[in-house]
Amino acid sequence: MEIRYKRSHFAKLLGFTDQQLSAADKLPELKALGGGPASYQPRHLSAYRRVLDRHPRREPSRRQLFLNFKGGTGKTSLSVAYAYRLAELGHRVLLIDLDSQGHATQHLGLAAESLERTVFEILVKGVPIEDVIVPHALAEFDVLPANLRMTTIDISLMPMAGREYKLQRALAGVLDRYEFIVMDAPPSFGLLNLNALMASDDLLVPVLPDFLSFHGLKLLFETLSQLEDDLNHRLQRIRIVINQYNPTTRIAREAKDALESHYREFLASFWRTRSCGSVRSSQGHRATACPSMPTPHRPREPGTSTPLSPR
Ligand SMILES: Nc1ncnc2c1ncn2[C@@H]1O[C@H](COP(=O)(O)OP(=O)(O)OP(=O)(O)O)[C@@H](O)[C@H]1O
Ligand SMILES: [Mg+2]
Repeated sequence: MEIRYKRSHFAKLLGFTDQQLSAADKLPELKALGGGPASYQPRHLSAYRRVLDRHPRREPSRRQLFLNFKGGTGKTSLSVAYAYRLAELGHRVLLIDLDSQGHATQHLGLAAESLERTVFEILVKGVPIEDVIVPHALAEFDVLPANLRMTTIDISLMPMAGREYKLQRALAGVLDRYEFIVMDAPPSFGLLNLNALMASDDLLVPVLPDFLSFHGLKLLFETLSQLEDDLNHRLQRIRIVINQYNPTTRIAREAKDALESHYREFLASFWRTRSCGSVRSSQGHRATACPSMPTPHRPREPGTSTPLSPR
């Protein structure tokens, strides 16, 4: 699948007026890339940034984990859209797919099952992160992929010394390269997710506005308090993100009210329309993830490819 940007959107991502973009299009170095008004693609976005030195202010590095032990709440959809959007805005981003289902990897158009190295090789075999990273057409965006070969990762980690700290230690070596390290967790609890929690500053918890989600949240908060007691790790921020909120249904309104009364301090404090999830980064970037995700399974019209729009 190819992502193409509408001219107005391409200009907006670069912070350019139409005239400024026209002037940039004429630069020989950019002209030679064959982009231009008819087909701006992610690689052009990165090239325009590089050649014209259009970079956002560099943010201090943050490690952000999308986790809920309950399945299907939007961890992958939101984390991929959020990470990708930050990279489109010019931030250096590493997306880590921690789920052996490899959905985040596939969302990005990578053939997950044919990849020989995944997060497994980093955590279990001690392979350096650099050797596993898959670069993306958007130069600001790197991916650590996952696939089904990772299913035994919890068992493989079990006998290892320092088994809860493997990911934290592996990331320490690349922290200065990225502003955002975004992790998509599997819907399970085990050593891999424990590693992910230990390697995170912020936790983003996508929930669906239904009552089943409550059970998952209770378990998650109990786990977090154990983590603080046993492993002395305290997350800096925890944000619950209500995904797929549809205000026209009573169940969604009631679930939202219940979430507000039990978890008010953790709720992301804004709402979007139905079937759209909102996330805000620690630096205040606000974004909405809508179904128009960069997925190879859902090709879209040229120009409508942006997965997130800043609000
Ligand atoms: N905001 C949204 N609008 C529309 N569809 C959505 C939205 N968020 C998620 N979905 C859809 O809901 C399904 C589950 O989403 P997703 O795979 O992101 O959840 P998950 O929490 O990662 O699941 P798992 O626990 O299996 O990893 C997918 O089919 C996805 O396309
Ligand atoms: Mg998922």
